Amino acid sequence: MGDAYLDIIRDFVSQRSRLCFTGHKRDVLRHRLENHLEKLGLADFEAYWRYLKQTSGEEARLLDCLTTNETFFFRNPDQFGHLLDVIIPGIETSRGADVVRSWGESRREPASSIMKLRILSAGCSTGEEPYSLAMTLLESLRYPKAWKLEIIAGDLSESCLKTAAKGYYEKEKLKNIPDRYIDKYMQRDADGAFIREEVKDIVSFIPLNLNGVMNGEPFSGTASFSAPFDIIFCRNVMIYFSAACQQMLVNTLHRLLVPGGYLFTGDAEPLHLFDHTFETITGARCLIYKKTEMTNYAEAL
Ligand SMILES: C[S@@+](CC[C@H](N)C(=O)[O-])C[C@H]1O[C@@H](n2cnc3c(N)ncnc32)[C@H](O)[C@@H]1O
Repeated sequence: MGDAYLDIIRDFVSQRSRLCFTGHKRDVLRHRLENHLEKLGLADFEAYWRYLKQTSGEEARLLDCLTTNETFFFRNPDQFGHLLDVIIPGIETSRGADVVRSWGESRREPASSIMKLRILSAGCSTGEEPYSLAMTLLESLRYPKAWKLEIIAGDLSESCLKTAAKGYYEKEKLKNIPDRYIDKYMQRDADGAFIREEVKDIVSFIPLNLNGVMNGEPFSGTASFSAPFDIIFCRNVMIYFSAACQQMLVNTLHRLLVPGGYLFTGDAEPLHLFDHTFETITGARCLIYKKTEMTNYAEAL
């Protein structure tokens, strides 16, 4: 098939999503596109390029079929363990103290504006990551009902978001979830289990293209999506971008966090490869970074 058009499509994909198919990944692109063309009954990349330009919704389908969506519940258990045992209890204690302090001060900030926890799962795939986060929050917080909990979970892949929103997982997918959590936060049937409504209520799934976010575009959906986050999980996503885009993503994730907020990255995404001002959390046996408290708050908005 004509390779000139393969490269035209590759550049288009990179421009729209930052997904990078250079070097040996060009063969991955070729293979996935050939499968897609076969389903569409199109002869070659040139015919597909014309089809892409003329067909509404095809760009989303193209990007969807080029994403790698591997994920599982409680992926990297050390990260979830540190969140459960250290980070969430720490936030609960310090926000609780803020509420008590606000009662004694003239500003009288309502407790509801302090007891908010906003988490972003960027590149959430089929939902296992944000649901693992929701279960961890409910398990870790001593008074979960005192909190307004919000997990915004976004992905480029529309088909993944549909699966995620259903919240149903077959038995094979449940193997990393402690039985106790399944009993408490899921509803089993013969073939798998549903996520219970009280867990689903915490998670909002949204279409998310990190390319747009890096370009400063607001999150889709309500205005509250653009407020800064206390915690961001962006794991096993930046590995699909070029080195220059990875650096831009690190800068963007820094901007999206509140001062003192935490960033969790994938095992293959250590930040020492980039310029950044995050502190590394030591003793967690996994990759967790903290935006320094000193950061100017205005920068995070
Ligand atoms: C390998 S999965 C990782 C899922 C999960 N974060 C984890 O670590 O288990 C990578 C996900 O990133 C998504 N993704 C890739 N490029 C993206 C972009 N530009 N914006 C948003 N999501 C993207 C893919 O659709 C895919 O679902």
